Amino acid sequence: MTTIAVLGNGRVGGNLATALTRAGHEVTVADRTPGAAADAARRARIVINATPGNGSLDRLAVLREELRGKILVDVSNATTDGPDGLPADLIYPGSSLAEQLQEALPETHVVKTLNTMLFPVMTAPATLTQTPTAFLSGEDPQAKHTVHDPGGVFGQNPFQRGHLQLVQGVGVVRHRLLEFGDHETTVSTILPWMWPCAARVCALPASGSG
Ligand SMILES: NC(=O)c1ccc[n+]([C@@H]2O[C@H](COP(=O)([O-])OP(=O)(O)OC[C@H]3O[C@@H](n4cnc5c(N)ncnc54)[C@H](OP(=O)(O)O)[C@@H]3O)[C@@H](O)[C@H]2O)c1
Repeated sequence: MTTIAVLGNGRVGGNLATALTRAGHEVTVADRTPGAAADAARRARIVINATPGNGSLDRLAVLREELRGKILVDVSNATTDGPDGLPADLIYPGSSLAEQLQEALPETHVVKTLNTMLFPVMTAPATLTQTPTAFLSGEDPQAKHTVHDPGGVFGQNPFQRGHLQLVQGVGVVRHRLLEFGDHETTVSTILPWMWPCAARVCALPASGSG
């Protein structure tokens, strides 16, 4: 059993909180009530950011004390919304929200994962014809192990591990696919080949990254 704070009570936050509670974890969900995120983060070992990516950096940077020594699992996407409601531009071109969070929260272990798949797939990957591969990026091997561990938090998904810098490449590849009209479910399904593409965008090796 792990203590987990889920920041955001929308589609992603609600779905993750339900699944994690069912799995036996002690889960606190924080909505936008002032102080709720800080209270939940203070009590948790793992904090999940399931709020809109465009304001996540500001929201989380002020929780530096509460997040000290914790694992921050960021599942958000930092893109602007187009007039059609679909993602328009990357908010951190040449970087990523995960890298920005790690810089703002140096005592926190940021792990980026699950952001490339639709929210129902996050907790039920086997419902797709081709089980998706979830990216798991971060600088701390122990934090990645905790999130990846089959007996742990998101163990039901197969993971491909990598450095935090690869998040940038994943964001670019995902964004291009959406620009070409690819639906998010399709993006989830074809994830295995997105990994080497993302590595190429970042000019990093795709394997051996812990
Ligand atoms: N939906 C997906 O399938 C999916 C897949 C992968 C990644 N993501 C990412 O996951 C994140 C959440 O997506 P979602 O679909 O769950 O969105 P959502 O249904 O709109 O939920 C967002 C949640 O964040 C809260 N929130 C919004 N602005 C806030 C603020 N300024 N301070 C505190 N809380 C705030 C909302 O509270 P209120 O209800 O009070 O507005 C709501 O509880 C986004 O970054 C998204 O890109 C989504």
